[in-house]
Amino acid sequence: MEEAPLSAGPSKKSLGNVRGKQVPLSDLSTKDDPPARTVSGVAELDRVLGGGLVEASAILVGGDPGIGKSTLLLQAAARFARGGMDVIYVTGEEAAEQIRLRAARLGLENSPVRLAAETNLRDILTTLDAEQPKLVVIDSIQTMWADNVDSAPGSVSQVRAASHELISFAKRRGTSVILVGHVTKEGQLAGPRVVEHMVDTVLYFEGERGHQFRILRAVKNRYGPSDEIGVFEMTGRGLAEVTNPSALFLADRDRPAPGSVVFAGIEGTRPMLTEIQALVAPSPHSQARRTVVGLDSQRLATILAVLESRCGIPFAGLDVYLNVAGGMRVSEPAADLAVAAALLSAREDTALPSDTVVFGEISLSGALRPVTQAENRLKEASKLGFASAIGPEQKKQARVPGMTLRTMTDLVSF
Ligand code: TYD
Ligand code: MG
Repeated sequence: MEEAPLSAGPSKKSLGNVRGKQVPLSDLSTKDDPPARTVSGVAELDRVLGGGLVEASAILVGGDPGIGKSTLLLQAAARFARGGMDVIYVTGEEAAEQIRLRAARLGLENSPVRLAAETNLRDILTTLDAEQPKLVVIDSIQTMWADNVDSAPGSVSQVRAASHELISFAKRRGTSVILVGHVTKEGQLAGPRVVEHMVDTVLYFEGERGHQFRILRAVKNRYGPSDEIGVFEMTGRGLAEVTNPSALFLADRDRPAPGSVVFAGIEGTRPMLTEIQALVAPSPHSQARRTVVGLDSQRLATILAVLESRCGIPFAGLDVYLNVAGGMRVSEPAADLAVAAALLSAREDTALPSDTVVFGEISLSGALRPVTQAENRLKEASKLGFASAIGPEQKKQARVPGMTLRTMTDLVSF
């Protein structure tokens, strides 16, 4: 083989004379049709996928062991199959009989999904080659074993090799492939994140043990928005769609309580109300505690710093506990004001009126920043029986009949 020296020096030909054929961008954009999609009929799943399953796409579904991935995918596979799609579900985790029992429990025993209990990648690829399904589910990628790779199943090189083979097959044959991946306690996809950049779409299935609902979250999606979530409720007969998550997340609220504030948020394309809860108590420790569940702890630190230095409200010597009710996770900066309101309400031991929602981003100066989709937030709040809102001033102030909006420009005026 002839090798070109690396240090050939700058060449006039080095750019613009590459071997690949060049196509004007304008040609591409007119010829590129939107990808072919199939909807499962499970709206919470279809939306997270970006409007249905894209043909020949590769999807990773990650999540903690026991969170419900196999249940979710067996149900999804059954829905796609019922719609006429040819689906093979490959399990390396459980025996076929176990899957059959699970299917029976889910009421899917008559589903046309084909099952294979197999871990040898070569055998799986041979089967797929012969059967040419339109969708294959691999549960899980950590159990797959490529006999040409000299390491144990679940190791990085095995996971990488198996994923690569399956994804190449998918692209070549127009089959969509869903890879299930277990996440370890440290939050890493075991057989690590190597798969994430190989696939088109990465979804995480999450939720708190002890809570009955589960959230399917798109963290990467080549074919749709990457911040979309789908909400499901666990039942004895499998996962049920939650079409009105706000109502679910607020279900346990009874009377106005100090430290409790309803945040009018947006998750993906959908408005969603969640309850932010704070508890502030004198600290018995030499270093006061900051405990956060469902929100970014850095964000809490920032908001506390703004409250202390811009508004003169000290939190030193006080333990702070912050929580999003029901196991939901909120990452929107628009939650800042609701967090601040919950902290102040808890600290002063006074409740906000129970018919009020809060939203707004806080800047380091203490000023309130406008948020996106203010009108949708207000509409959702109104739909759920709220009558007033506290939020930032918007360039174009949103108005929703039946909702009173109190605007603020600065946290100091709260
Ligand atoms: P499973 O789907 O096996 O989780 P994973 O594949 O992520 O490890 O679900 C774990 C257990 O929870 C299993 O025993 C079934 C039960 N389960 C229900 O009873 N109802 C449900 O809606 C779900 C999702 C799970
Ligand atoms: Mg499983």
